[in-house]
Amino acid sequence: IIAAFQPKLLAGRRVLLTAGPTFEPIDPVRGITNLSSGKMGYAIARAAREAGAEVTLVSGPTALETPYGVRRVDVQTAQQMHDAVMGNVTGQDLFVAVAAVADWRVANASTQKLKKQNEQDTPELQFVQNPDILATVAALPQRPYCVGFAAESENLEQYGTAKRIRKNIPLLVGNIGHQTFGRDDNSLMLFDDQGHSALPRADKQTLARQLIREIARRMAQSPD
Ligand code: CTP
Ligand code: CA
Repeated sequence: IIAAFQPKLLAGRRVLLTAGPTFEPIDPVRGITNLSSGKMGYAIARAAREAGAEVTLVSGPTALETPYGVRRVDVQTAQQMHDAVMGNVTGQDLFVAVAAVADWRVANASTQKLKKQNEQDTPELQFVQNPDILATVAALPQRPYCVGFAAESENLEQYGTAKRIRKNIPLLVGNIGHQTFGRDDNSLMLFDDQGHSALPRADKQTLARQLIREIARRMAQSPD
């Protein structure tokens, strides 16, 4: 009964998220992507909306339905994701970077479909680094509360602690085990300036609600 009269955790807050993979073209019909399904990011967007926030979700290509009440901006490349985030970040209270953003794009992408010519002549791709969206947002003078994700294949505790400091963010969330892409469940490790703690294995929507609770508590205590 008492709970019903409590204001929602993120009532009146504005939340911006990235989710899903990015797609970096090689030519008009080919590209480089990754195995992110977008499920965790979409679950967090849904949980933030349930918690009363006004939610904008910048999404790479996924097969998922837009969560109820969430404003979705579709992008393909990391550069487009960067531009959509920068175009929407003003006035946001919270930024959660869940997307698996390509670290590199093809520098010599072709405007025409690459054709087989002979057996010796295979295409050579060159790469250039993409902008770091989370680091860019975290460096803004009036930055929202910033939460990052990390998909590590090993040494999660060590890499997670270091990555949070390198990205200059108050909270970094690590996937425990890297076989999480596409699954419906997950378990998370939270890194903040106090150390780290775990959210044990559960379905992604349950974890997303727990994570929103953890974030809201930290935002209430944080100066930024
Ligand atoms: N991220 C981002 N823009 C990029 C790369 C990553 O916003 N160009 C965000 C991701 O959404 C995630 C966090 O940064 O929230 C960490 O991503 P991750 O790939 O783990 O870290 P990197 O800094 O790219 O380091 P590395 O891949 O070398 O481990
Ligand atoms: Ca990366």
